[in-house]
Amino acid sequence: MKGLILSGGFGTRLRPLTYTSAKQLIPIANKPIIFYGIESLVNAGIKEIGIVVGETKEEVKNTVGDGSRWNIRIEYIYQPVPLGLAHAIKISYDFLKDESFIMYLGDNILKEGVNEFVEKFKRLQPDAFILLTEVNNPQEFGVAVVDESGAVKRLIEKPKEPPSNLALVGVYLFNKNVFTAIEHIKPSWRNELEITDAIQWLLDNNYQVLSDRVKGWWKDTGKPEDIIEANLLILEDIEPLNQGTLIDTVMNGRLVIGKGTKIEKSVIRGPAVIGDNVFIRNAFIGPFTSVGNNVIIENSEVECSVIMEGAKIFNLNKRIDRSIIGKNVVINQTNTSPRSHRFYLGDQSFVEIVE
Ligand code: DAU
Repeated sequence: MKGLILSGGFGTRLRPLTYTSAKQLIPIANKPIIFYGIESLVNAGIKEIGIVVGETKEEVKNTVGDGSRWNIRIEYIYQPVPLGLAHAIKISYDFLKDESFIMYLGDNILKEGVNEFVEKFKRLQPDAFILLTEVNNPQEFGVAVVDESGAVKRLIEKPKEPPSNLALVGVYLFNKNVFTAIEHIKPSWRNELEITDAIQWLLDNNYQVLSDRVKGWWKDTGKPEDIIEANLLILEDIEPLNQGTLIDTVMNGRLVIGKGTKIEKSVIRGPAVIGDNVFIRNAFIGPFTSVGNNVIIENSEVECSVIMEGAKIFNLNKRIDRSIIGKNVVINQTNTSPRSHRFYLGDQSFVEIVE
């Protein structure tokens, strides 16, 4: 069985971060989101993965590589325009051929991985196998209607009036018949070939579509608050490892601290991950925080946030909470007059000052 990971698209809901970086490369607990998907497939025994890439293809390739770090083979499939999930499958035919495959959306994270679903798909051999989970905001997802026996009846992409609260999780397993389905569907109102329409075609034409419920949590990291939430969920399970140097510092809870990192006169409260070559002095790092490599934090407090590599945070008299700070961002507070704010913010940046 092959794997297909989708890492194209524009990531518009994650601007400004996605102006300079693919959304699938945003770090969660200091690891690019897409690595969680790759590792889920590797754990399920998948040895060949195709990654669909768009305009950020070079960056994705440079970060992920050829798969040798996981002992698998990774091939890249270029999709110049994100014309839909079914379109991504269609252009991957040369890689997939007639083999069954698991498609994994590169911005999704599933706590329990996909082993159980791959095993079930192999055993039951349906034409398609989809994963569902109950959500509070079904209008933001593909939504399924299932009957009392659990059989899938209908799928609708982001319905304004959702007929159920069962969302489609971004993991799908197919055999080659999905290509026939894709040949028969037309682009939707948003000009995308929708995977929900392809699966609906399979249902309407008496192909077998099975579903299962996701156990454990699942996160689609499409929006900024999802990044914070995914970071929190991943940090809940980290294994402590301290490779740094700590001086006059109080540590509580589970902490990962990288090589070359120096922490002085601070309080670090886990779960938290602090990368390599970080310098922290006179600071408080609170639970559910990820601090990337080469970050400097002095005289400041940070909690439940994602601080990406190279960022510098100085002298803040208020705590940074539930925030995402991009690469090499500088935040500094001074006592000079006149008292003012000074910002160099990219398009669609978000600043909230709570007095
Ligand atoms: O996360 C689950 C949801 O994913 C499902 O409930 C929906 O039914 C499904 O359509 C999808 O919705 P999203 O709006 O979240 O999809 P998004 O546009 O974010 O794309 C998902 C991933 O696939 C993302 O990593 C980008 C990539 N992609 C997307 C498109 C449209 C591609 O590589 N090529 C594409 O053409």
